[in-house]
Amino acid sequence: LILRTLLIGFGKIGKNLVEILLEKGSYLEKRYGVKLEIVGVLDRSGAAVSQDRLDLQKLLDIKNRTGKIANYPLFGEENISLTEVLDRTDADLLVELTPTNIQTGQPGISNMLHAMSRRMDIVTTNKGALATGYKLLTDKALQMNVALKFGGAAHMSIPCIDVDLYQNLGLRIIGIEAIVNATTNYVLTQMSEGASIEAAIRTAQAEGIAEHDPSLDLEGWDTACKMVILANWLFKTASTLSDVEIKGITEVTTKSIREAKREGYAIRPIGEIGNDKNRIILKSYPKMVPLTEPLATVEGFHKAITFHINQGDILIKTELAGPKPSAYAILEDIIGIRMEKNLLAHAYSS
Ligand SMILES: NC(=O)c1ccc[n+]([C@@H]2O[C@H](COP(=O)([O-])OP(=O)(O)OC[C@H]3O[C@@H](n4cnc5c(N)ncnc54)[C@H](OP(=O)(O)O)[C@@H]3O)[C@@H](O)[C@H]2O)c1
Repeated sequence: LILRTLLIGFGKIGKNLVEILLEKGSYLEKRYGVKLEIVGVLDRSGAAVSQDRLDLQKLLDIKNRTGKIANYPLFGEENISLTEVLDRTDADLLVELTPTNIQTGQPGISNMLHAMSRRMDIVTTNKGALATGYKLLTDKALQMNVALKFGGAAHMSIPCIDVDLYQNLGLRIIGIEAIVNATTNYVLTQMSEGASIEAAIRTAQAEGIAEHDPSLDLEGWDTACKMVILANWLFKTASTLSDVEIKGITEVTTKSIREAKREGYAIRPIGEIGNDKNRIILKSYPKMVPLTEPLATVEGFHKAITFHINQGDILIKTELAGPKPSAYAILEDIIGIRMEKNLLAHAYSS
């Protein structure tokens, strides 16, 4: 299966994705029968767009060297819109990777709606678009009968979305308690070792883990977005960011961290999905976690999630962070689309 693919957003994740394709493209084709042909890449400068596939190495070289994909030789164009690119490429798949916008979800929401109306499948890591426009996007995908996959948006380097499979097999997730934001976990860990909040944030940005605007992390919005996406997917709610009780870590001090430790607690940036009288409760806040609990031992850039299941707990911990695992999650989603289509074809033919 050849998938004619458009990337919109060619920053950290987009470039990692193209690097992985360079390295693993032929394996993907051999193992899963999926051949990804990149026929268009858009950034803020414009696009590189071609009826034939673009050269992956050249895409990376041009972007790294000039910062603008519109400088791609022969096929680069400044200020070209997504609509024009869609008109010219007849693509099958849009990989949406523009920045998270927690106020409006734009331009991610419009980009995806646009592509879906042309019957394109979508894979995205755009947390803001999903946290603000989840229902709109999933309704449109259903209406157009296209795939909308977002493992990388809530993935946290952990296959959280896949846990839904357990539910299909009869287990029931009752609640979630998680450390899903590497930046704030790193900042709190560094503060517990005496570093200033400013220095810790600078390192997190240099590692490519903190968002452009670190307030998204520090004020709890990133964790909140992930809780909304997980609640909507795993608990079939119609939650939005306004349903989340949000408190950032900016009021945590080195003194309060020391005092907590003396009393047997670690302060961790926790995302929670719980239940109160059949109402889903969503929270993002710095929590005093008893040092005896597994989440208290998750430090630095590491992340973890505890799924409270009707038959016990599942705890998944990861040391992976940053854009590369998110790029892998995109590929996992693409393979997922391929497999679902195979299953459908099989069902119709038998
Ligand atoms: N980085 C991570 O670890 C991570 C993990 C999970 C999810 N996410 C989410 O995934 C998305 C992408 O993340 P990232 O780290 O790759 O972001 P990034 O490095 O900031 O890249 C964003 C890209 O989007 C482009 N862009 C911005 N506005 C655009 C517009 N109006 N039209 C076309 N392109 C536009 C930018 O263009 P220029 O290059 O010209 O500036 C840039 O190439 C974000 O929503 C982020 O929240 C990130």
